[in-house]
Amino acid sequence: MITADVVVDLQYGDCGKGKISHALCTKNDYTHVIRYNGGCNAGHTIYHNGKKFITHHIPCGVFWGIKSIIGPGCVIHPETFFEEIENLEKSGIPAKELVKVSKNVHIITDFHRVQDSKDTDIGTTRRGNGPAYRDKYDRKGIRAFEDGRFYSFLIDLYEELYENQEFEDLEILFEGAQGFGLDIDWGDYPYVTSSHCTVGSAILNGVPPKSIRNIWGVAKIYETYVGAKSFQGPEAVLEEIRDLGQEYGSTTGRARQVNWLDYDLLKMAARINGVNNLVFNKMDILEQTDTWHLYNGPELFQFTNREDMEFWLTNKLNLEVNEDMEIFFSGDKEFI
Ligand code: IMP
Ligand code: MG
Repeated sequence: MITADVVVDLQYGDCGKGKISHALCTKNDYTHVIRYNGGCNAGHTIYHNGKKFITHHIPCGVFWGIKSIIGPGCVIHPETFFEEIENLEKSGIPAKELVKVSKNVHIITDFHRVQDSKDTDIGTTRRGNGPAYRDKYDRKGIRAFEDGRFYSFLIDLYEELYENQEFEDLEILFEGAQGFGLDIDWGDYPYVTSSHCTVGSAILNGVPPKSIRNIWGVAKIYETYVGAKSFQGPEAVLEEIRDLGQEYGSTTGRARQVNWLDYDLLKMAARINGVNNLVFNKMDILEQTDTWHLYNGPELFQFTNREDMEFWLTNKLNLEVNEDMEIFFSGDKEFI
């Protein structure tokens, strides 16, 4: 039997999926962690035993000795991948043993990178993500099994999931990349990424829909976005929040634009993903500025304190999305 939990980002990426996935690994007996979308445009910041790691391709299961798979919904840049493997090995993490690449993952080539490096319209991460997905859907792509360098990492995901000799029951954590606001179908097109960032994308990586148990939605108590559209709110305190929250891209170092939480986007993302556990990260940052604001539709709501904002969000989400949804407000780097 397969049981799966999914971690999805409800905003524009960078909400702390890495942290949540990392923490969930300590609370469950996962047999596998699978990345289900995106490429090295992603940057997951993970604190493991107090040490900071930034991963682009590799799922967080490696930190806990769990088999970690790059699923077929992803695209992979070989050099970045091998460099990441080496860096993890140097820190004592047995990445060569634990990390597997689904044989049909599409490759990001140097040509894809060159093409993406010319982008000025979308504000991409210039990692070749869009051109690699374009060639995949144009049926001109190159897959991992066609590149000899991947030989020792390749896995047949169907056999792994359905003919597994090692485990009778599989417990999988699906770790997503990017977020709902960047989803190719639900995001603010064309200011989106080239993959699906919802729970549907996890299912596309080979598990039955009914295997899904918990859907962890991850948000920040304010929002950030990186890219070409204008997003930054007018208040000066938002710049302060950017610095306090170290809101600079973990992949590109670009300053993220900051604005208040958009309740309507959050509600839509939580509904469409069927979220039953929702974590608001970075509470510690708003604590420091003591500005508890959010947009409810076009209206800016200003709460006088943290408790009032938490109360309002909890009630509204339980009323409008799911009355059984568990909601967490987190201000810790490593734990929920
Ligand atoms: P691409 O995915 O590199 O094509 O970039 C498309 C859009 O998604 C741009 O606005 C990027 O800044 C954004 N983006 C892609 N990956 C991430 C991420 O991991 N975090 C935040 N934004 C991202
Ligand atoms: Mg990130």
